Amino acid sequence: MPPRSPAPSPSPDQRDESPVSDPLPFERPAAGEAPLGPTGRPMPVLPEPTPLTTHGHARVISMCNQKGGVGKTTTTINLGASLAEFGRKVLLVDFDPQGSLSVGLGLNPHEMELTIYNLLMDRETTLDEVVVSTGVPGMDLLPSNIDLSAAEVQLVHEVAREQTLQRVLAPALEQYDVILIDCQPSLGLLTVNALTASDGVIVPLECEYFALRGVALLKTTIDKVRERLNPKLSIDGVLGTMYDGRTLHSREVMERLVQAWGDTVFHTVIRRTVKFSDSTVAGEPITTYASSSSGADAYRQLAKEVLARWHDE
Ligand SMILES: Nc1ncnc2c1ncn2[C@@H]1O[C@H](COP(=O)(O)OP(=O)(O)OP(=O)(O)O)[C@@H](O)[C@H]1O
Ligand SMILES: [Mg+2]
Repeated sequence: MPPRSPAPSPSPDQRDESPVSDPLPFERPAAGEAPLGPTGRPMPVLPEPTPLTTHGHARVISMCNQKGGVGKTTTTINLGASLAEFGRKVLLVDFDPQGSLSVGLGLNPHEMELTIYNLLMDRETTLDEVVVSTGVPGMDLLPSNIDLSAAEVQLVHEVAREQTLQRVLAPALEQYDVILIDCQPSLGLLTVNALTASDGVIVPLECEYFALRGVALLKTTIDKVRERLNPKLSIDGVLGTMYDGRTLHSREVMERLVQAWGDTVFHTVIRRTVKFSDSTVAGEPITTYASSSSGADAYRQLAKEVLARWHDE
């Protein structure tokens, strides 16, 4: 595995960051009631995950939204790292030819010997040959680079072209507890492969007005994959990202999100902070780069909420 890049900044925890104590977007509940969270619903008490004694039977999750720049890759890295902190064995799958997930974990796209492309296209290549460890204990990665863009074209001619990723991930199911697939911003054949290989989908949505456009199309795609290719596919949750509770705009978008998606919306929201771009430059998750920052805590909370939804506390 190529060497990981060092963190450029000496003390990231001391750097600027959006305030954590946003004003509540909704009225405060009466004394004795659970406080309302940023989504306007009472915030549940999330159980502390218990360590696992055995591993395997991985739940496979696609991080999916055809809109670019909504936090798919950031959520894959940081949810994965948080689940690993809670003792889960995690495999991240970079399924975007941009390779941002691999770069965000400190890999150099030009120095990769084998990538997920080889695994998809060459039956001689085995999963173990392609998996690399990350700097986070318990979290591994199937890396990708621009080569993967050729797979989208080549797969069209394959038999069972939608099931190719599912086939290559099968040997990983018994080794890991969670497999997170970082999708590219499109609803093409690669994304259909990811959805076909998955048990659930997490949809990150930027808390801004245009974010809600296009979600209907995503839902139609998920429904079609469920009907035709993968009956078990469920939407595990919609995640509000880049939330800024100081702006009416963010709060209104959150309100509309809950109106449209109800309890599918995670109680956890990810606030806007520059620490996420800083940690990408450093090539590591925010949970290690700025371990005590509010961004790191938000992803740890998301991990607890996700595990609670899967009944895996
Ligand atoms: N909560 C946040 N606050 C501020 N910046 C963020 C946040 N989440 C992500 N970012 C930044 O926004 C940019 C886009 O995020 P990210 O790469 O995770 O999105 P994406 O959906 O994977 O994009 P693409 O569709 O291109 O794959 C990155 O520079 C990332 O560092
Ligand atoms: Mg991405």
